[in-house]
This record gives sequence, structure tokens and C-alpha cells, in this order.
Amino acid sequence: MKHLVTVSTLETNEILEILDSAENYRTNKQGWKPEEKMFVANLFFEASTRTRCSFEMAEQQLGLTTIPFEVTTSSVQKGETLYDTIETLASIGVQSVVIRHPQDRYYEALQEKVSIPIINAGDGCGQHPTQCLLDLLTIRQEFGSFKGLKVAIVGDLRHSRVARSNAEMLTKLGATVYFAGPEEWKDEENRHGTYLDIDEAIETVDVVMLLRIQFERHEENTSELAQNYHSRFGLTVERERKMKSHSIILHPAPVNRGVEIADELVECERSRIFKQMQNGVYIRMAVLARALQPIERGLNNDNNYQ
Ligand code: CP
Repeated sequence: MKHLVTVSTLETNEILEILDSAENYRTNKQGWKPEEKMFVANLFFEASTRTRCSFEMAEQQLGLTTIPFEVTTSSVQKGETLYDTIETLASIGVQSVVIRHPQDRYYEALQEKVSIPIINAGDGCGQHPTQCLLDLLTIRQEFGSFKGLKVAIVGDLRHSRVARSNAEMLTKLGATVYFAGPEEWKDEENRHGTYLDIDEAIETVDVVMLLRIQFERHEENTSELAQNYHSRFGLTVERERKMKSHSIILHPAPVNRGVEIADELVECERSRIFKQMQNGVYIRMAVLARALQPIERGLNNDNNYQ
């Protein structure tokens, strides 16, 4: 079954296949669309604009039927478990579920039990596979490949699922990853990069990947740190001037304007922030196709747990 719950289990060739498939959808070349009706449901237990809406757009573009599901008006409110929710949807004909959930690795206990593929739309501070893939697509469109590229991931590293997924994949694909940000938000467990001073990082790299401050995941009071954040660790106009001439800016968004990045830089020439969002639709089309194509061909139980 073609779950996509983490990027860690994806082989390099699979990553490249997903990027190629997304690129084919983007350029209107041939891509999979189901011949008969297929059904998906999007289960968002945390807030989302980009991921949810771009999954919905991807589903529409593929001709899939999206079964409406709202956590707040569902039987989750009566205590129904995630497993029972998924199997209920499966039993009425849903063929894949897209899930965002606040619990890290919520999928671990589920992936070998459920009867339909899970696409992870973000788990707590864990992983955000489709964000990672759309970031990779955006970088590849710009530079052609990943080998030898230098990428700085900047900010709230400890609480960021985007940082975790991206650092691992970029390293796997041959890029060098640097981290920069406040001492308090260092991620000591992430071994896929080395820490640099923010100014050195900005001047060194080809891609400056900014992270949103994840206020909702902070256990301690971080308002003081956030107040001084822009001048100490943010992409100020002065820092942007010191970037290499060809370097680009990424941010998964939503953006805290004037905090992680100066307001006037969000849509500057180097910024690919809205391009990332466009690419999100094509990546999600590719990921949905990867999950659903085997089902259409009657190959749902090949034990290919990912
Ligand atoms: N980048 C991202 O995951 O945005 P949303 O939380 O709006 O989905």
C-alpha cells in the first residue's frame, strides 16, 4: 500500500519519480487520472490553508471526489478513534485519506492496520512530506539538481516538521544543509546539517529556507525571543542584500511578516514563496496518483508500507 507518512523511507529514485510526475502535471504533459470514480477524504485535526486547499485543488484536478469531513462536526467529538474513523470512511468507499494531526507519528500504530493508504499532511513536530517534496520541486526548477547546493534552514528548528523532512531529503540528494537560529530552538537530534551563525549562513548558501515560528508548539513563554527575533535571526533587508546574486528565498508559510522575513521581501525577486504554493498542487496530484493508481489496478495489498 502506498502510504506517504514520512519522507525517510523514500528512495532517491522514488523522490525523483514524484518530482517528475508533479512536473508533468505542471506542464500539462500526460499524467494519471482515474478512469472511474475514486474517493478521498481530508482529515485535518489542525488548522491549515495551503495544505488543505491544495490537496482539495489537486483532487479536483485529478477528477477525484472529495468526501467532506470536518473534525469538529464528526464523531471524533464522541471519542471515535482515528483508526475507526479511517476504517469507517474506507467501508463507505473512500480509497485514501489525507491526515494532518497534532500528534507526532500518529500514523505509526495505523499504517499496518488500515485498509487504505494514508497521506500525511503533517504530524505534530514530526514530518511534512508533501511540503518537503514541493520545496524540492521548487529548488530543482531553479537549479536543475541538488548536488553541491548549499541550503540554510533558519529559525525554529526544534518545532519544525518542515526542517526535519527537508534536511534529511536534501542531504540524501547531495546538498549541504546548514542550520541557523536561536540557541533555544536548536534541534540537537537533527544530524542532517551543521549550525552556522545567521549572517554567515545567509552569505554562504544558494537557498535560504526560512521557518515559521511555531508559537502553538512552544511550551515556554517565547514572546521576548519573538520580539527581538527579526533583527537577530530574521531575513532583514540588510541581510537579503548580502545573499549571493543567484540565491533564492523559501518559506513554507504562513509567514509572520516582519518576524521571519521583512514584509517587503515576501514577494521580492528572490522569493519563491508563492511558487512553492503553486508547486504544492502538482506535488499533491503526484502523491495522490501514487497512492490511488495501484488501487485502480487492484494492487492495494502489496505490503509496500511507506
Ligand atoms: N505550509 C503549510 O503547511 O501551510 P498550512 O499550515 O496553511 O497548510
